[in-house]
Amino acid sequence: MPPEILLGVSGGIAAYKSAELLRRFTETGHAVRVIPTASALEFVGAATFEALSGRPVATGVFSDVHEVPHVALGQRADLVVVAPATADLMARLAHGRSDDLLTAALLTARCPVLLAPAMHTEMWEHPATRDNVALLRSRGTIVLEPASGRLTGSDTGRGRLPDPAEIADLARLLLERPDALPRDLAGRHVVVSAGGTREALDPVRFLGNRSSGKQGYALARVAAQRGARVTLVAGHTEDLGDPAAVDVVRAPTAVAMEAAVRSAAEDADAVVMAAAVADFRPVDTATDKIKRGDHEPPALRLTQNPDILAGLVRDPLRDGQVIVGFAAETGDATGDVLHHGRAKLARKGCDLLVVNAVGDGKAFGTPDNAGWLLARDGAEDELPMGSKALLASRIWDAVTPRLT
Ligand code: CTP
Repeated sequence: MPPEILLGVSGGIAAYKSAELLRRFTETGHAVRVIPTASALEFVGAATFEALSGRPVATGVFSDVHEVPHVALGQRADLVVVAPATADLMARLAHGRSDDLLTAALLTARCPVLLAPAMHTEMWEHPATRDNVALLRSRGTIVLEPASGRLTGSDTGRGRLPDPAEIADLARLLLERPDALPRDLAGRHVVVSAGGTREALDPVRFLGNRSSGKQGYALARVAAQRGARVTLVAGHTEDLGDPAAVDVVRAPTAVAMEAAVRSAAEDADAVVMAAAVADFRPVDTATDKIKRGDHEPPALRLTQNPDILAGLVRDPLRDGQVIVGFAAETGDATGDVLHHGRAKLARKGCDLLVVNAVGDGKAFGTPDNAGWLLARDGAEDELPMGSKALLASRIWDAVTPRLT
């Protein structure tokens, strides 16, 4: 049986994005039942939800009464996602109202509930909404941090619905692990680096690597939804979209990344170096394109890049800062992946090291990941195969008890 998702849609302009989210759920093999509110249907027609889900759509409790849908739908669900969740929907849920099918289903659901709020900044920041969000979170409901950016009109600010791809990722995470998003990083500042650096040879060529940035983005996204202030220092990545509620700083080269990480980390509680930083860069970068000409190919002369991770350990920016490194290893004649991981932990001296096996289509660019988490205090944990968000949640689990 595929996991059963109840997709609630309440009445905000972002309701149109729920159709894309629905599509993502069905394309990844989930059975989805959509429950819009009456005002959501002012924005998107019931026919859209029925066609995309292949299931009937109702807003009130008096359709198909013989099936007792207001009880059955909530009881049957493996996960409830409400996207968008308006201020009104959250107020009704916080106060236990059940005046339509969606709020009734929310009262009967015993599975994880994920709310993706979308509203104007003033509504999000209003004390009534803050109290409702706090109350819902205290009861275990996952209320996502909204994104910042363009709102309904020409204005911008906090309160945008996170991207449907991001909501789908976090929904998958909760299906894999219902307790993956506690608010245990509230009040903390964490810095995460992601992606690969590119070291220029000339204006059009560079030395680079295969890092997609997905693991670092997952770490940033999960930390933000666990309540942290997050700075994501991003090298070159696939087109991933900025995670909601995360400050993104671009750093294309190792030297730029070192400056960006060290500046962001001055007041950070933890730094996670998930980026694939080039160890070497060309001694000279040609100002004009290197031409083929009729001469021998030019020799590449390289110089060492700074080791950002080792520098954070050697010259700590702050007492008690937790430093996490990554080791992408293939294993070789001198030892397997874990052997190289242990040696790297000893060499780098960081608090935690995430060891991934790479090569043969593993880790780089894939949506899933596995590995080991090695700690300086000798603890070793296997990280079983799962989404990169799941791996991220396990890494934050190991970081939080080490925070001072
Ligand atoms: N790293 C870094 N600065 C570098 C190179 C790597 O901060 N110039 C960090 C990476 O972000 C990662 C960790 O160090 O967290 C290990 O990266 P890796 O490339 O595996 O380590 P190296 O020291 O380059 O080891 P190897 O000899 O295996 O290449």
